Amino acid sequence: MGKPTGTRPPAVPDSKTAHDLMSVLPMTAEVCDGRLCIGGVDMTELAREAGTALYVMDEATIRHRLSEYVKWTRYHWPDVDVVYAGKAFLSLDVVRIVEEEGCCLLCASGGELAYAVAAGFPMERAQMHGNNKTDAELADCLDAGIGRVVVDNFEEMERLSAMAAGRGVTQKVLIRVTPGVEADTHDFIMTGAEDSKFGFGLNQGLAMRAVKRAIELPGLDFDGLHMHIGSQIFALHSFAKAIEVIVAFMREIENETGVAVRMLDVGGGLGVAYGAPDEPSTVKDFGKVVVDGIKEECERHGIDVPRMAVEPGRSIVANAGVTLYTVGSVKEIPDVRTYVSVDGGMSDNIRTSLYDAHYEALIANKADQPREMVATVAGKHCESGDIVVRDAPLQCPEPGDVLCVCATGGYCQSMASNYNKQVRPGVVFIRDGEWRWAVRRETYEDLLRCDLG
Ligand SMILES: Cc1ncc(COP(=O)(O)O)c(C=O)c1O
Repeated sequence: MGKPTGTRPPAVPDSKTAHDLMSVLPMTAEVCDGRLCIGGVDMTELAREAGTALYVMDEATIRHRLSEYVKWTRYHWPDVDVVYAGKAFLSLDVVRIVEEEGCCLLCASGGELAYAVAAGFPMERAQMHGNNKTDAELADCLDAGIGRVVVDNFEEMERLSAMAAGRGVTQKVLIRVTPGVEADTHDFIMTGAEDSKFGFGLNQGLAMRAVKRAIELPGLDFDGLHMHIGSQIFALHSFAKAIEVIVAFMREIENETGVAVRMLDVGGGLGVAYGAPDEPSTVKDFGKVVVDGIKEECERHGIDVPRMAVEPGRSIVANAGVTLYTVGSVKEIPDVRTYVSVDGGMSDNIRTSLYDAHYEALIANKADQPREMVATVAGKHCESGDIVVRDAPLQCPEPGDVLCVCATGGYCQSMASNYNKQVRPGVVFIRDGEWRWAVRRETYEDLLRCDLG
């Protein structure tokens, strides 16, 4: 799901101000009186009022990205579902926004499904995936009346069939296929696909066996195929290659079973700008490559064009979010490096330690000053690998400054932990010049609530 991302700028002062970092910031970002503002809200004041560490999400950016996906996929074919992958960032507010924008929702666990149910999401527009869904999770899917279950293995298929048939219902399923094409940010690798914990490989006939079993089992309605070739993908030709492979498989299915694939879900993975030099593909180009690609391949194989789905996560929320921290100390180790320590770290952003991810950072209250030094932004955890941004060009930091890390709207809050019994930051949403708590900051009482000792 996550790879090292973000083009790492050379570790030299780059004189950039916030004005030069707009490509990684929310679309409503601007500099007002020398300070960073998002959606008309001053980030320095927000940090003082709401406290730090703090996740900030710009609602306008989330809505814009969703609407771009709807526009540029349906521009080429009317029947495309834009299925937001909730694993990137999930809160009740975001579920409601997804619904209001006419999109669908992808859940990766019973917990994510519970959010969809609690938000009153129309469950026929929800999908559940995952390589090891428990009986309880499958039962929750059936109870909720979920639209589709993405089936990942034979055992799960048998269990789901028995549970659905036992309830006298028929559950639509997609079969997850590993097409043997793995995206590698700027290119793709033909993997042969046997070595993946997800889905059924095409070689050795596993995927075909799975499709045939789904067709014959009671309680299941074989709706189509699902794939997901990777994340933070810049190279659109990797989608085109995978589409070639999977549409050829659709033809084989029709030949061998006489059953047409009604739905083709090509997963998510479109890359985003983490570093100022990053130039990810646009949603417009993605829509063209994917939707036209499927249409052309179907025509080539003489099969009907199916309903399509795309599952963007990161490219909806990553650039909609920033994390605000307060600088606690600035430790200069002569001839080595300068550490700027902040009041958060690997518990609110694990991606740097986990994937060696790189982010742009700036001082929100010095946003129009040039980044005249290089410092490493360190977290407060008891772990030397607890780094938020390594070798970051930065304005000269002082204790009390508000440090903003850009493009943290995806896979940060959703991967947060309580390491060192750190409370997880709250999330504020910004809209029309106002901010509101979407998720409140945890308290020590929250930490202690589950401990029965
Ligand atoms: C099945 C599936 N769909 C969609 C996504 C979303 O991917 P991204 O956030 O890269 O768009 C993921 C993420 O790993 C995934 O596993």
